[in-house]
Amino acid sequence: MKAKVYGDKEYLIGTVDDRVFGSFIEHLGRAVYGGIYEPGHPKADKRGFRQDVISLIKELDVPIVRYPGGNYVSGFNWEDSIGPADKRPRRLDLAWRSVEPNTFGLDEFMKWTKEANTQAMMALNLGTRGIDAARNLVEYCNHPGGSYWSDLRKANGTPDPYGIKLWNLGNEMDGPWQVGHKTAEEYGRLANEVAKAIKLYDKNLELVLCGSSHNQMPTFPGWEATVLEEAYDSVDYISLHNYYGNRDGDLGNFLGCSVGMDSFIKSVVATCDFVKAKKRSKKTINLSFDEWNVWFHSNDADRNVEPWTVGPPLLEDVYTFEDALVVGCLMLTLMRNADRVKIACLAQLVNVIAPIMTENGGNAWRQTIFYPFMHASKFGRGTVLNLKVDSPVYDTKQYGAVPYLETLAVLDPLSKGITIFAVNRSQNEKLELEGVFSGFMGLRVAEHIEMTHPNHLAVNTAKNPNEVVPKVVMGKARIEKDHLSAVLEPLSWNVIRLNM
Ligand code: AHR
Repeated sequence: MKAKVYGDKEYLIGTVDDRVFGSFIEHLGRAVYGGIYEPGHPKADKRGFRQDVISLIKELDVPIVRYPGGNYVSGFNWEDSIGPADKRPRRLDLAWRSVEPNTFGLDEFMKWTKEANTQAMMALNLGTRGIDAARNLVEYCNHPGGSYWSDLRKANGTPDPYGIKLWNLGNEMDGPWQVGHKTAEEYGRLANEVAKAIKLYDKNLELVLCGSSHNQMPTFPGWEATVLEEAYDSVDYISLHNYYGNRDGDLGNFLGCSVGMDSFIKSVVATCDFVKAKKRSKKTINLSFDEWNVWFHSNDADRNVEPWTVGPPLLEDVYTFEDALVVGCLMLTLMRNADRVKIACLAQLVNVIAPIMTENGGNAWRQTIFYPFMHASKFGRGTVLNLKVDSPVYDTKQYGAVPYLETLAVLDPLSKGITIFAVNRSQNEKLELEGVFSGFMGLRVAEHIEMTHPNHLAVNTAKNPNEVVPKVVMGKARIEKDHLSAVLEPLSWNVIRLNM
């Protein structure tokens, strides 16, 4: 099979916002307890932060981490999580039916973000709480001092404000499962009032309004239209969430789910712009895809997990090689929408539907999905070319005609080189990729990284952490003048780096 790609140096979609390489830590399962925080673990520092986990997170280079939920945030009293750790209350978390000891709280998380070289994207509780708790939390985090909450932060050991810029106005408030679930009218009005209060404190803070929990929600996209009508002038972004799975073993269909993600993004962009037109507004609302991943492997196991324990093994999907290809395609789709998707969070980061797994008291390792995300984060920061792609297609149950080739090219503004990311979705045929890149002189192939595996269900485990890993390959990608030819193996993830 053959596919052709045309790109031009002057024909661009937009610059990728670094924050699309974000991730998420929720007080859920072993994300915190046994994940990023495990006092007494041989690799933990004196604060209990696991250094083996931190070094894997640094490999991913995530610029933002959303926290503390997720569904958890909708019942969270943030004040429980500050002050002397031995005085903090143990609470029942209704979202995940677990016990929350609050030994790792807000101040610990903020210290941890510094260690992990990242920034917080803080979520506010708009389920059981509202304006008052939200404005107090912002004051605790961001005010320098001389007020009740900012002085309490100082008394708790943090003299300088955290300066958290990005805030979620609740989580999945359209979902009937959410503690404090609301109608679009109720939520839109509350979110607007919370947003107004926060912007009265600091108009430069950036606020994310809750969109739908996924695009199959019966209220999608009317929810978006209504909440935006209520809160358009006070917010900056609207959220999208979606998880994908291969429940019936239809790999071709599963690999096509990024086509579904793309149409979800386009529908939300259209809805934002509809409200913009209706309001005669000059302001554009951008998108925060702040939960996305593959999630289905652990669904059955989770039904048998004992409730009301600390750090139970919930949502521990063990990812296959095919999941890694899907995560690669989804990541490329987010980047291709760089003009409107400014924030995205791979949900989540450690143990809970995560690229990094740990054993309590034991090792940490990279799941299969770690690699495409890492490559995108490492080599995908730059400006996305508006490619014309001619690829053969195949038919799928859910997504119609899906191209065998998923691809994206990013121009590095410093080196002037291009990185081409490409997935061959074919299960049995190689794909010969021909690329013409006009306006680029003297490109050469610096590196071709390939990830493939004879078994699409292969996984990395504690015992065998390197079963699925990328390799540098030689001789499969060549360039002459501005003409690239590359061979993409069946079911493969490829990163072809072209330097000047
Ligand atoms: O990421 C796991 C859960 O998925 C989050 O808590 C929730 O927001 C979503 O439904």
